[in-house]
Amino acid sequence: MRITIRDLKQMKRRGEKIPMITAYDYTSAKLLEQAGIPLMLVGDSLGQVVLGYDSTVPVTMDEMVHHVKTVVRGTEKAHIIGDMPFLSYHAEIPEAIRNAGRLLKDGGAQSVKLEGGQYMAETVSRIVKSGIPVMGHIGLTPQSVNQLGGYRVQGKSLSAAMDLMEDARVLEEAGAYAIVLECVPAQLAKLISERVKVPTIGIGAGVGCDGQVQIFHDFLGLFDDFVPKHARRYAELGEAIKNAATVYISDVQTEAFPTDKESFTMSESVLHELEGRAFKPA
Ligand code: KIV
Repeated sequence: MRITIRDLKQMKRRGEKIPMITAYDYTSAKLLEQAGIPLMLVGDSLGQVVLGYDSTVPVTMDEMVHHVKTVVRGTEKAHIIGDMPFLSYHAEIPEAIRNAGRLLKDGGAQSVKLEGGQYMAETVSRIVKSGIPVMGHIGLTPQSVNQLGGYRVQGKSLSAAMDLMEDARVLEEAGAYAIVLECVPAQLAKLISERVKVPTIGIGAGVGCDGQVQIFHDFLGLFDDFVPKHARRYAELGEAIKNAATVYISDVQTEAFPTDKESFTMSESVLHELEGRAFKPA
């Protein structure tokens, strides 16, 4: 049985912090589950760290469904959240419901995440009423990077902070089961976390959130194009991969690879026969 949104709400009630990591494929999801990660987000950040786009804006529904499926196949217990990509939920509510439904029906996710506060409340409410659990996402919302004018901390002024508080309140009222707070001052994130009953999951939002999320490639040191202040590297896999590839190149060039251990053999008598024969005539 997978972890449910009820389990996550109970974790908040018990004061148990919620660790979440993004996952984009079968193998990494399997490893994260073996380590005990309860909550995995197939984030549209895959646009940058997996597909090589320069933002999350170009990511499509088909790409999201494809990656959600692989993560679901690699896990049995973790709760898998499928991220709704840019313009898959903005134009019309029925289309938003259909696209959210695809992440569950075709992808196998247990819930979806979408960006936006007050102006998304009606959409969140209608998706939730269709039976699809929704995680909200406020603060820095990367799909709006062109509107925000860059990736910056949100909610620093009194009016911006009050607006974010209202976003959180309205999302909870609309039925969101949890809310991501991205790049929000730690004091504000703590205040929001105390005021809403649903879990808050922070990224660049301080220790006062109910859980934390990190991008897979950031926390393992796999991605150097852009290293955000809020990322902590728990491993240097990028360096490890480059070192391994350098040794491999040298082993191939010097014939140190493969050895007999990594090769297959045939019997000497067959070989002897073979050596005495010409190519088969065409
Ligand atoms: O797409 C993503 O990985 C996200 C996280 C930053 C929360 O939305």
